[in-house]
Amino acid sequence: MITKIIRTSTFGLLCFIFSAYANTDCIPRETKYGLVCVCTSSYCDYLENPQPISDNVVVITSSKEGQRFAVTNLRFGDDNTDFENSAVVADNRRNIVKLLVNGTKRLFGLNDPIKLSIDRSVEYQKITGFGGAFTGTVSHLLGILDQQLQDHIYKSYYHKDGIGFNMLRTPIGGCDFDLEPWAYNELPENDANLSNFTKLDPRDEVKIQQIERLKNISNLNELRIMAAAWSPPRWMKSNGEWTGFGKLKEEFYQSWADYHLRFLQLMDAKKMPVWAISTGNEPFNGNVFVFFVHFMSLGWVPRTQAVWLNDFLGPTIRNSTYKDVLIFGNEDQRYSYPAWFKEMDAFRPGVLDYLNGFAVHWYWDEFLAPIVMDKTVEKYPGKILLNTESCIGDKPWQTHGPELGSWNRGQIYASAYLKNLQHSYNGWIDWNIVLDEQGGPNYVENFVDAPVIVNATNRVEIYKQPIFYAMGHFSKFVPKGSVRIEAEVKKLLTSLEVVAFKRPDERIVVVLLNSDGKAVDVLLNDSVQGEIKINVPANSWHTIIYN
Ligand SMILES: *[C@@H]1O[C@H](CO)[C@@H](O)[C@H](O)[C@H]1NC(C)=O
Ligand SMILES: *[C@@H]1O[C@H](CO)[C@@H](O)[C@H](O)[C@H]1NC(C)=O
Ligand SMILES: *[C@@H]1O[C@H](CO)[C@@H](O)[C@H](O)[C@H]1NC(C)=O
Ligand SMILES: *[C@@H]1O[C@H](CO)[C@@H](O)[C@H](O)[C@H]1NC(C)=O
Ligand SMILES: *[C@@H]1O[C@H](CO)[C@@H](O)[C@H](O)[C@H]1NC(C)=O
Ligand SMILES: *[C@@H]1O[C@H](CO)[C@@H](O)[C@H](O)[C@H]1NC(C)=O
Ligand SMILES: *[C@@H]1O[C@H](CO)[C@@H](O)[C@H](O)[C@H]1NC(C)=O
Repeated sequence: MITKIIRTSTFGLLCFIFSAYANTDCIPRETKYGLVCVCTSSYCDYLENPQPISDNVVVITSSKEGQRFAVTNLRFGDDNTDFENSAVVADNRRNIVKLLVNGTKRLFGLNDPIKLSIDRSVEYQKITGFGGAFTGTVSHLLGILDQQLQDHIYKSYYHKDGIGFNMLRTPIGGCDFDLEPWAYNELPENDANLSNFTKLDPRDEVKIQQIERLKNISNLNELRIMAAAWSPPRWMKSNGEWTGFGKLKEEFYQSWADYHLRFLQLMDAKKMPVWAISTGNEPFNGNVFVFFVHFMSLGWVPRTQAVWLNDFLGPTIRNSTYKDVLIFGNEDQRYSYPAWFKEMDAFRPGVLDYLNGFAVHWYWDEFLAPIVMDKTVEKYPGKILLNTESCIGDKPWQTHGPELGSWNRGQIYASAYLKNLQHSYNGWIDWNIVLDEQGGPNYVENFVDAPVIVNATNRVEIYKQPIFYAMGHFSKFVPKGSVRIEAEVKKLLTSLEVVAFKRPDERIVVVLLNSDGKAVDVLLNDSVQGEIKINVPANSWHTIIYN
């Protein structure tokens, strides 16, 4: 019963070609930590988004074994008892097919199936989107690649045949992922009128051209650009330095608001409108964490930020042509919620009205359960909650740089996306879309991992890591406007995790993760369609789509 199991093989030994989708397979390469997919100027892997009709079900699978967005077609109401509908398909790394050709023998899932219930009648938050960051480092690395390879990076991330990102975060001026620290109007000093901030930096011109290309290649109608500043020019700061214990000098509160407005104007003049700004990247880096952070920062506490937002930034933006640009608050780690907003509001009552959303970074999520975010959103209704930065490799106990091919790092991502989406998160923007083999360049050697690694040595290959597919299991299939619905694993102490959404096209998308080294059978019960049994291999991620 292999007719339903469909997979194209790069090497042509075994081909079950499903011609309806324009797919190209991962070209796998074994690496120290696992497996990456290699792209060159002439080849990269893509998957046209499957659109199941009537009672068909499409399962898209990635597994530690080597599957990357492998497609299996199933149907509700089929007799699944003999595992005809196994989601275990071709392992295109070893170019073998692990099929259950023998319907009588149970190779996988020896226990009773784990029940999964999907209830469409219970709806939660709406999805704003997914994205990655376009830092100075990203722009620099793209610049060393030929146009076709750059295009594969853009398409892989932002095209619907890639992983369908619709959001992009970019620094206002420099950040740590750049070749040096920088800001606009560094000279003349003490120039409150920002007389020398009349055009963007030449580095921005390059970046804007790249982003324009990204939009063209990806066929994007709307790219939601979110911008944030790391540090003002040094003369605006109490310590006169890029980093360390430095806050904004009070006499420059208006200048710093104007600086943001000027950026919006200049970007707009380049036909690159900004969708949202934040009140600044990681305000704790400029006070509490000065001993750990050595890159550009600006320290705020809730009281000072309340004053700046309420009396300067808020009125400046809302009285301008750019009054509809969204403003996000906090943009630091989860542990600062919700005290941050409570204190801001206590010091300048009503200040939070200037905020359209809350931005949070992922790095220390372990410290505090996501329920604190639900509480924040409940307390201040109507705000969009976005994770706006995430990466692995920042912690003392982690490899400071890529672990090329690491499934484990992909699993950490997949699980984090899922867990947070089970709470009030409306979307997620990851950090650098590309880094080099070392996890940089970064001007303070703050090297970390990224979903796509550029071979900066030969400049002709890029490597899609498991992290890339982990994000894609959500971003590709859960477009803007999707609504989360009730999804529950009906078993305690299982390593299965599930989250589900109803898309604008009314289709249901279930993301299912198995972080266990054992395969399991899952009996999915949808409140409208009924039951379907799916075999879930060891260490695998699945996106299940049906009507
Ligand atoms: C199918 O399974 C049965 C029982 O385990 C076994 O006897 C038979 O040889 C298997 N057939 C194939 C083709 O593997
Ligand atoms: C304006 O900034 C540029 C660098 O962007 C600098 O070269 C120039 O000297 C500055 N002008 C003044 C008047 O300080
Ligand atoms: C800023 O500009 C205003 C008028 O536009 C002027 O009165 C003021 O002196 C300028 N300030 C500085 C520091 O250049
Ligand atoms: C993007 O497309 C537009 C319209 O087709 C074109 O004018 C522009 O030059 C393109 N930009 C890039 C960077 O390819
Ligand atoms: C516009 O500016 C005025 C004067 O500075 C201020 O009182 C008002 O609150 C501002 N409007 C908004 C929407 O912030
Ligand atoms: C990057 O390219 C160099 C030069 O061709 C090669 O030696 C190296 O193995 C490549 N890196 C990876 C991760 O494949
Ligand atoms: C499937 O879920 C529905 C409610 O959504 C429930 O009524 C039904 O009993 C469930 N079926 C099974 C077999 O658990």
